[in-house]
Amino acid sequence: MSTTTSNPSSPSGHERIETSNFLMIVLILLVIAVGGLVEIVPLFFQRSTTQPVPGLKPYTPLQLVGRDIYLREGCYNCHSQMIRPLQAETLRYGHYSTAGEFVWDHPFQWGSKRTGPDLQRVGGKYSDDWHRLHLENPRDLVPESNMPAYSWLATAQIDPASVPPRVRAMQRLGVPYTDADVAGSAEAVQGKTEMDAIVAYLQSLGTAVK
Ligand code: HEC
Repeated sequence: MSTTTSNPSSPSGHERIETSNFLMIVLILLVIAVGGLVEIVPLFFQRSTTQPVPGLKPYTPLQLVGRDIYLREGCYNCHSQMIRPLQAETLRYGHYSTAGEFVWDHPFQWGSKRTGPDLQRVGGKYSDDWHRLHLENPRDLVPESNMPAYSWLATAQIDPASVPPRVRAMQRLGVPYTDADVAGSAEAVQGKTEMDAIVAYLQSLGTAVK
């Protein structure tokens, strides 16, 4: 028989917590919150996660529109932009991704689904023409590809008036655009198609880190 006796009418210590659902839930949440904060809060103050890597440039208006098309078309459902620091990944894709490359990405496009290859370092890997042909019909270049064709992008014109508000929104989020950048952004996409934009965006990916 146990030497300790407990009085069910007035439980004490651990027993008190274990027999009260409410107290148990509150304390579990408290413990998780402390654990989470200890991991998350320092990320807001570390240089390596808050400062842009040297050479990082804000997207040009055309690239920014391309990025919006990337989101609209759901490219992230098949492509990640997050190379892990593992040999198998760096041999295939190049330098692993660093937090300082994404400080001006709102929201960043890390993703986790890889039906297709990671695109973090695709900038400069192929010519613009390769991308155009590939987006027009991926199977013309990669016969076994199951990537959808995006041929309509080549004929879809960008509405220049829609661009300054997008640049302004990024400026408000801390991307270092000047007011002149915002004002000139409509002009910068004049006469361009959505295909021009997405190719410009793809060619910019991952080029700040060599
Ligand atoms: C259904 C999944 C799927 C979707 C959605 C998708 N892709 Fe792909 N993508 C692939 C696959 C699979 C490959 C590899 C075969 C190939 O090159 O076509 C690929 C390859 C690529 C490549 C070549 C990468 C390299 O390093 O060779 C680029 C660039 C690319 N996709 C861009 C895009 C863009 C931009 C979009 C959105 C407009 C998109 N993909 C949407 C599946 C997808």
